[in-house]
Amino acid sequence: MCGIVGAIAERNILAILIEGLKRLEYRGYDSAGVAVIDEAGRLERRRRSGKIAELDRTLSEEPLSGRLGIAHTRWATHGAPFERNAHPHFSGNELAVVHNGIIENHVQLREHLQGLGYLFTSDTDTEVIVHLLHHKLERTGDLTAALKEAIGELHGAYGLAVISTRQPDRLLAARSGSPLVIGLGHGENFLASDQLALRQVTDRFIYLEEGDIAEIRRDQVNIWDADGKPVQREAVQYHEGAEAADKGSYRHFMLKEIHEQPVVVQRTLEGRLADNHVLVQAFGPEAAELFAKVRNVQIVACGTSYHAGMVARYWLESLAGIPCQVEVASEFRYRKVVVQPDTLFVTISQSGETADTLAALRSAKALGYLASLTICNVGTSSLVRESDLRLLTQAGPEIGVASTKAFTTQLVALLLLTLALGQARSSLADGVEAALVAELRRLPTRLGEALAMDTTIEKVAEFFADKSHCLFLGRGTQYPVAMEGALKLKEISYIHAEAYPAGELKHGPLALVDADMPVVTVAPNNELLEKLKSNLQEVRARGGELIVFADGEAGIHNGLGTQLVKMPHIHDVLAPILYTVPLQLLSYHVAVLKGTDVDQPRNLAKSVTVE
Ligand code: G6P
Repeated sequence: MCGIVGAIAERNILAILIEGLKRLEYRGYDSAGVAVIDEAGRLERRRRSGKIAELDRTLSEEPLSGRLGIAHTRWATHGAPFERNAHPHFSGNELAVVHNGIIENHVQLREHLQGLGYLFTSDTDTEVIVHLLHHKLERTGDLTAALKEAIGELHGAYGLAVISTRQPDRLLAARSGSPLVIGLGHGENFLASDQLALRQVTDRFIYLEEGDIAEIRRDQVNIWDADGKPVQREAVQYHEGAEAADKGSYRHFMLKEIHEQPVVVQRTLEGRLADNHVLVQAFGPEAAELFAKVRNVQIVACGTSYHAGMVARYWLESLAGIPCQVEVASEFRYRKVVVQPDTLFVTISQSGETADTLAALRSAKALGYLASLTICNVGTSSLVRESDLRLLTQAGPEIGVASTKAFTTQLVALLLLTLALGQARSSLADGVEAALVAELRRLPTRLGEALAMDTTIEKVAEFFADKSHCLFLGRGTQYPVAMEGALKLKEISYIHAEAYPAGELKHGPLALVDADMPVVTVAPNNELLEKLKSNLQEVRARGGELIVFADGEAGIHNGLGTQLVKMPHIHDVLAPILYTVPLQLLSYHVAVLKGTDVDQPRNLAKSVTVE
């Protein structure tokens, strides 16, 4: 998704801006640009559609240098990914803006500004911001005052960075719905939409709050809150190692992140388990009292995080006896919802900035839920800050657009939530919590065993090299696992993949099955196994090729038309976590064989901060 980087210093900041953009590259984008105020006080920019490497090439042919600048990676929403739509956008060659988010009233503003004589050169919603600001600047003569006035007329979501030749002593920022962070240096300061972009220059950050405006100078930062009052925001020291943004010896971030799962699952468990029970306080000091009141759970999320929520529904109902509904955020936010009494509203998100999930949380606040809780990977994110309770997954930065370690750590966190709710409500069967806590402690080892099957799975992947379609089947908690497997395959290999609960096969998809339609099945040794085996027979009888990931004792055999991958034995409740791993590896190897851009698949973004 779109990225912002800005800098004000006494040195040439161009390399800092470009390095910052590169660090945000993993989020997905389709054009990039940079603008600086050069030594002669002129506003200059370079923009390119395509990769940052293109922009870099242009900069080596037509260099730029300056001590104040802003840069942007754009993921097209309003207007195609052409150079003229790339940011920064200019007004009158003296004002430049980069913008994340969407301005909803851009049509009205455009008409108004055209009426005032402004000429538009792009199809973007962003260009209205820069001309509106210019108009205000003409009137007020002061950039900070102009920004304060202008944002009062913007409807929608924005993270903005602004520079002007009229006041080259400042970099301005405004946040509403799109995250922004100020990086603090010595005699120089920075701005970005994600601290990751600035970690090469600082480890001290100020996170802007909703509605904040910031005036960033070389040696001082002034911030005003949504009511226009000057505020002090605390500077936070960042601790995590910068190595997370490095592929190490792995060919792709995705592969590295798949292999990190034993370690990050271990981290997600740390400090949250006592000898034989889950520490409910891990969810916050008020959690025990609140959880005891919970009678229903509503889960809302998008993409992979939604699949984690679907697994959790099985757990919450079967283990803790709590009715649970799960819905994709983009549907939930626009639906008239009937809220059952004492319902806990749970969001799940890797980034904590997904626009639909955030909007769903905000709309839920007016609907009478008991409380909100987020399972999130980014402690400083909007979802975390705006929820009553939170449990952070400890996956570390996830760079590959296709989510892997974020998913398995979300599942671990959701199982902890299930046990914590069951404990607080005394609704767990005897011995269940102690048994599952013991199994959770063994999970990192089991995950390591699943990862050791990598070469076997790489061989299986060859079968998919010439396929265009694929079915994924599972039953019970393995149905959402099959959905996640299908999502991974389509995201990165561009093979059309669909998931079905295996029992639904005969109600439609069986018509598609033939020798060119591989059917991938996840089959742990549970009470649904015999039923699943009948479903597999239905596929074989139609000449369909089966790829089965099954427990060694499941009684499924390698043979004509069936490729069996034997999985380590695991407790049925934890099976969805373990069985996700081979499906991730399968998609990865198929994508490598197909030669796709594994870490940045076409058309997709890591963190979707627009609707
Ligand atoms: C995008 C990503 C997905 C992710 C989804 C939800 O579509 O490409 O991988 O699952 O957003 O993101 P979140 O950060 O809320 O988990």
